Amino acid sequence: KSAGAAGAALTAAGCLGGGGGSETITIGSDIPYRPFEYETTDGDLTGFDVDIAQAVFTEELGYEHEFVQTSFDTIIPSLNNGNFRVIMSAMTINDERDEEVDFSDPYFTAYQTIVVREDSDISSEEDMAGVRVGVQKGTTGAAAAQSLKEDLGGDLDINEYDQIPDAFSALLNNQVDAVINDNTVSAEFVNGDGEGQVRFVEGEGAASEAGQDAPPYLTLTVENYGIAFREDDDELLEEVNGALATIKENGTYDDIYSEYFAG
Ligand code: ARG
Repeated sequence: KSAGAAGAALTAAGCLGGGGGSETITIGSDIPYRPFEYETTDGDLTGFDVDIAQAVFTEELGYEHEFVQTSFDTIIPSLNNGNFRVIMSAMTINDERDEEVDFSDPYFTAYQTIVVREDSDISSEEDMAGVRVGVQKGTTGAAAAQSLKEDLGGDLDINEYDQIPDAFSALLNNQVDAVINDNTVSAEFVNGDGEGQVRFVEGEGAASEAGQDAPPYLTLTVENYGIAFREDDDELLEEVNGALATIKENGTYDDIYSEYFAG
């Protein structure tokens, strides 16, 4: 029952809503993953997932809630071991994971993308042959790198990092030549700490093939994020799907969206 086993509980600014004594939903998440879950310079937990959690669990459903830092690579076993109640960690819904957990309805669309140094001559998937690529361990970015490696006849050097900022640092420090990761998180880096030093590999890809409003860079996959539950937690899952539908309809979702994804 206790969140302690998974690590320090992080309290988001304003997350202690709801009536006193109401049940607390513990949320496993790998932080930092800006703009979804990260700490401000003041040490406050914030992000798109953090605000959606506040809207869904606390404002709509009346629970208290608390984020629990956990390694992404072991986040599903941690959920199933009872270290926390749900996962909210910019987690992509896929078949492999669906065998171990149940997912809410999708709440965000993402794409795997490639970021390289500004002066790189990599401008296509083919150019990735022989390259050192950084990914976060256990992610769909790691899976996309693996499938690209197969397409390249094995000629790709995949370097796995525990957290995504480590992969970005490795790119800046010339320890890898590319990072494969979720588009909006990589965009924060391209336009933030990596500004002027890194860029997306451009081109069309999975997003335009799927007929989606494609971002202006190469997309390797189209993915949807979901909140993950233990397979016996149907009642909470249904409540959360209801709350997600409500906030999508009443404008709360759009307000949160525009806070993190302007323009
Ligand atoms: N969307 C990707 C996945 O599900 C990456 C998620 C990483 N999340 C995080 N909070 N570090 O594999």
